[in-house]
Amino acid sequence: MTNELINKKDIYFPSYSGSNDNLNTLINKTSQIICNWFSNSEKYGPLPIDEEFKCLMPCENGNSPEDLFSEIEDLILNSFNPVHPGSLAHLDPPPLVLSIVGDLIAAGLNNNLLAYELSPSLTNLEESLFKWFSKKIGFGKHSGGIASSGGTLSNLNALIAARDHAGLSSDPNAVFLISEEAHSSFIKCAKIMGLHENNLIKVSTDNEGSMDLKCLKNAIVECSKKNKKIFSIVATLGTTIRGALDPIEGIREICKNNNIWLHIDGSIGGIFLLTDIQIKGLNKINFADSITLNPQKILGITKTSSLLLISNIENLKNTFSTGLPYISSKNNVLDRGELGLQGTRPAEVIKLWLGLRFLGLKGIEDILKSSIDRKVFFEKNLSNEKYEIYSGPLHIISFLPKGMSIEESNSWTHINRIKLLKCNFMLSRPEFKGKYFLRAVMGNYNTSESHIGDLLKILNSL
Ligand SMILES: Cc1ncc(COP(=O)(O)O)c(C=O)c1O
Repeated sequence: MTNELINKKDIYFPSYSGSNDNLNTLINKTSQIICNWFSNSEKYGPLPIDEEFKCLMPCENGNSPEDLFSEIEDLILNSFNPVHPGSLAHLDPPPLVLSIVGDLIAAGLNNNLLAYELSPSLTNLEESLFKWFSKKIGFGKHSGGIASSGGTLSNLNALIAARDHAGLSSDPNAVFLISEEAHSSFIKCAKIMGLHENNLIKVSTDNEGSMDLKCLKNAIVECSKKNKKIFSIVATLGTTIRGALDPIEGIREICKNNNIWLHIDGSIGGIFLLTDIQIKGLNKINFADSITLNPQKILGITKTSSLLLISNIENLKNTFSTGLPYISSKNNVLDRGELGLQGTRPAEVIKLWLGLRFLGLKGIEDILKSSIDRKVFFEKNLSNEKYEIYSGPLHIISFLPKGMSIEESNSWTHINRIKLLKCNFMLSRPEFKGKYFLRAVMGNYNTSESHIGDLLKILNSL
């Protein structure tokens, strides 16, 4: 490292007139460190077993880049590694290379998706991408949407808009319905919306993990008896523990007959709608009022990347628009901070756009199809004599030796998760149906059949 680099003032900010050699050197060095970490994944495993990163805080005179680089290396070595082929625990796939580039560009531009004047090309890009997504899933010309930092926020934006649309924003009897296998973050949504826990109604699922339509109809009757007013039914396309799909056509009929907003939490399965992959129960969903898609969860668009698509963009405007008194707006261009909860937003759209442009529809399909293929191969070869197995049509599978009590499931999963980690396989340990399970999420493109074979050998002999 050169002496000039150690002169920190030179690199407080990029120079507006100089060569920016220092910044260039730092970025190259960073890129080298990250690439080395990727290349040496096998050496470090998917997760450090005992994390020991020393968290040093800022000191009086600041630190040199040399000091910081040694800390960066330490930070990285103590991180979860999504690129490792044994990383099969969560919906956190390896990052797409073009998305990593996109993140760097976004940081360099430091534009703000709050308003057009702070991000002219990016505002245009985000709006165009939403038009593209909306068309792909069959929404009409009034549709659009907003990106936000994660599926929880996208679902929350949708629920707030649905309640507002129903005119129930200050009604304590407003309720929404989800399946009992829907994501736990809906509890958070209810809390944030000031709703009592009884205003979040959980509908039972059938043996396949799909919302039971009879139970849904009964729940609606019960709500009406208790003067509860339903502002949305949420159908999950891809449940978190077993990748199950709610019966969206049946739910659509019920929503239509009762004039209820249908929101689809497609955080996991929604992205499949961009492809021709045939998955039973995952059809065009253009009749929904809104849908969440999370390109971060399988495609590998770097975090965070979550999209809320809505069939009528006016509903987002009516709900969230306050006017931005300190912003100079341009005629006919919407300042996108007016469409959701977040004000300032980073240019996450760049990594999404570059990732999708690079992959093309064929690449997207390849990644998604490979995740299903891996799950099918795994499921076919996991002993169904030994294990109780839960898996819907998507790429997630949970399992536990048959006949275990709650206590046995607790200790079995605990011990064997660590054992697997020592063999460089990281699986998760969800609580499900009152017991603990091991769960594999097969969204890692680096995981080959031979890796899965090695995992199966261990699991079938436990
Ligand atoms: C089905 C589903 N919905 C919503 C969420 C919440 O998404 P996020 O963690 O991006 O906020 C998750 C997270 O795994 C999920 O699996």
